[in-house]
Amino acid sequence: MSKKTNTEWWKKSVVYQVYPKSFQDSNGDGYGDLNGIRQRLPYLKELGIDVIWLNPIYASPQVDNGYDISDYRMIEPTFGTMEDFDALLAEAHAMGLKIILDLVVNHTSDQHKWFLEAKKSKDNPYHDYYIWKDEVPNNWGSSFGGSTWEYVPEVGQYYLHLFAKEQPDLNWDNPKVRQEVYDILRFWLDKGIDGFRMDVITLISKDPAYPDGPVIQNKAYGSYYAGCATGPHVHEYLQEMNREVLSKYDIMTVGEAPHTSADQAMDYTGADRGELNMVFHFDHMHLDYDENGKYARNRVKLTDLKKVFTEWDEKMRACGGWNSLYWSNHDQARAVTRFGDESPEYRVISAKMLGTALHMLQGTPYIYEGEEIGMTNAFFDKIEDYRDVEALDIFKDFTGRKGFSAKDTLELLRLKSRDNSRTPMQWSTEKNAGFTDGEPWIAVNENYKTINAEAAVKDPESVFFYYKKLVQLRHEMPVITDGVYKLLDADNEKVYTYLRKSEDETLLVICNFTKETIDYPVGDFVNADQGTLLISNYDDAPQQYADAIELKPYGAYVYEIK
Ligand code: GLC
Repeated sequence: MSKKTNTEWWKKSVVYQVYPKSFQDSNGDGYGDLNGIRQRLPYLKELGIDVIWLNPIYASPQVDNGYDISDYRMIEPTFGTMEDFDALLAEAHAMGLKIILDLVVNHTSDQHKWFLEAKKSKDNPYHDYYIWKDEVPNNWGSSFGGSTWEYVPEVGQYYLHLFAKEQPDLNWDNPKVRQEVYDILRFWLDKGIDGFRMDVITLISKDPAYPDGPVIQNKAYGSYYAGCATGPHVHEYLQEMNREVLSKYDIMTVGEAPHTSADQAMDYTGADRGELNMVFHFDHMHLDYDENGKYARNRVKLTDLKKVFTEWDEKMRACGGWNSLYWSNHDQARAVTRFGDESPEYRVISAKMLGTALHMLQGTPYIYEGEEIGMTNAFFDKIEDYRDVEALDIFKDFTGRKGFSAKDTLELLRLKSRDNSRTPMQWSTEKNAGFTDGEPWIAVNENYKTINAEAAVKDPESVFFYYKKLVQLRHEMPVITDGVYKLLDADNEKVYTYLRKSEDETLLVICNFTKETIDYPVGDFVNADQGTLLISNYDDAPQQYADAIELKPYGAYVYEIK
């Protein structure tokens, strides 16, 4: 069992996110599984990461790919058995790798036994585990289409579901629900897991007034955030969870925090708050939204991105909290497609640049599976290729109510659908990219013949080896964990430049976010000509720089200033 004190090992760690359904299939059924992940541990060890975050692995009808859990103490059968999980955990630990799990407790599946009981009658002891209303109280729309309120004739009431109707929201105001959740936490922590990523944890406490929400992004319904994000008791509940369970283990916690500002995040992560270690915020994910929200053609403006990273750095430092750093995950497009340049000419170089810009910041970096080999969006061209409940809803809503053409909607899905990051991990040039011998549950990206892990680990110039070096530098150089961040050249729309400064070390990070070659007057911002090159994505980068440096397309340069 883990130690009691939190040794804050997560501050020096790099987390690798595994989407189990798409990582490695070991039995030919077309779904990734736990034994497949176990087979690939040596690959992750080679990359050098410290922690593996597994998306939900519990029994689930898979309406939302495992975020609809029907049994929190059972492994999803397509992923394997509890013995497989125990073997995976033991082997990972033996190799010095930690594992954190996804905790999904804002809602359950409608097939969870609590809900099956709850909907039988108002007197059922489980009825109050969920949120019921006699009338629809407001205009809220669920994340995956339709109202958040679903009628159950047996009880003559509506239950709340912020996500799909198969994902009813738990009633956290019921102390029994909270105790059930804490028992689930203990069950997994006592197995020796190393922490949790907590799904939409900022939404667990609802405003009892259930106020109408503003209708934004041309949606059909009002936004539920007004009555759910950082609700009246969320801090009280997280503090209780921490006091009763989390504080007793040497673990890490990262809360997914939709609709949470940096100011609000200080209350979730501040050193004296006794809540979470860090949160995933969405501020940089929202920068390319348009009037229709996420499904937009916009590209992120670099000055906006710098503002977000800088604000979060400042606020987390001020409260003694900690940042989580990510470009992508299972809900987002692929990093190189969205923030870099996926053209054959610049894919590798821009993927390395993005890695540099993020991994040199203060916080815990998260690598999403395939990012370390520069995997790109899927580029599905027909709606039948999509599997995600969100994509299918968007297609219906945009081509129906919003009047978009199918062609335009497909283009938006190709840019932003969550399925872009859910296509199988590309291991090799073999059939189905080496992911499965069977029929994959979602199509493999056609570019696997050129973009795959086997090729990457053979090529010292690959994104893989560059990421490996970034991880290694973090382990070796305390300034990457501790150094104070300072933004330079804030208004530059093409280049992101910052310092990381500790007492005896300073790093200068310069990243060209464009495909232009830029003559960069670095001497205008830092008065130091003793910089020695630490890492760059160009072999011929100057080992020392003078007053100016020529930045190659998507060039990334980190200098150590003595
Ligand atoms: C989170 C998950 C996402 C899921 C949703 C509902 O945002 O990351 O995949 O659909 O919560 O659980």
